[in-house]
Amino acid sequence: MRSYYIAGNWKMHKTVSESVALAKELKAQLAGCKEKLLVAPAFTSLAAVAEVLKGSNIVLGAQNMGPEEQGAHTGEVSVLMLKDIGVRAVILGHSERRHSYLEGDTLINKKVLLALKHGIEPILCVGETLEEREAGKLESVIGTQVKEGLKGVDAAALKAVTIAYEPVWAIGTGKTATPEDADAVHAYIRKVLAGLYGEVASKAMCIQYGGSVKPDNAAQLMAKPNIDGALVGGAALKAESFAPIALFR
Ligand code: 13P
Repeated sequence: MRSYYIAGNWKMHKTVSESVALAKELKAQLAGCKEKLLVAPAFTSLAAVAEVLKGSNIVLGAQNMGPEEQGAHTGEVSVLMLKDIGVRAVILGHSERRHSYLEGDTLINKKVLLALKHGIEPILCVGETLEEREAGKLESVIGTQVKEGLKGVDAAALKAVTIAYEPVWAIGTGKTATPEDADAVHAYIRKVLAGLYGEVASKAMCIQYGGSVKPDNAAQLMAKPNIDGALVGGAALKAESFAPIALFR
């Protein structure tokens, strides 16, 4: 059976104690869940949440990382530090990083390669703004983000990569892409991947959808052939909304 990858991006929310409490609830409520599960708390909560998640079926992820292994990089957190405390995946190129912190494809690609080098699974986020979509640039924007983000990633390493399609206009707005619209973009991403890595690798790739995923739309989205999971923001902040998404079937 096809397995789905359901990830919760907690963004800049929750103190350590709030994060620990949510992780404990999720660990209990999702113990029997068959999907691949991930939570990505803020950096300050990672170590404490790692303790809670030990022995559970929930993978610990970070929301970002620095582009270098170590050194004089004030304010950055390194892949080595993340690995040291049990982080196994990292969200990279989130649109909030691209737009608020001006992260470009070259920097994001550097982080993708660094994560892979250290055995941390990247979730590479791509997505267009409303202006880009309305100007007919959807495919060129997404195509560039996928190709540039994966530059230098070889076919063997690709297996560790997940792509998350997050249309910027659907994030935190309550406006979900229709399952049909989202599936069409996922199909396009698969076409780009097929061009880079071949049909077989492209079919095997996990492509998550993100943008106002809620318990009441998760099943319709994931029923689509090209949608392999969800990257959840707002609804990931409470067990009562994240658990039903993870348990959508
Ligand atoms: P929302 O689910 O709040 O729209 O956020 C999506 C997101 O950005 C996940 O990374």
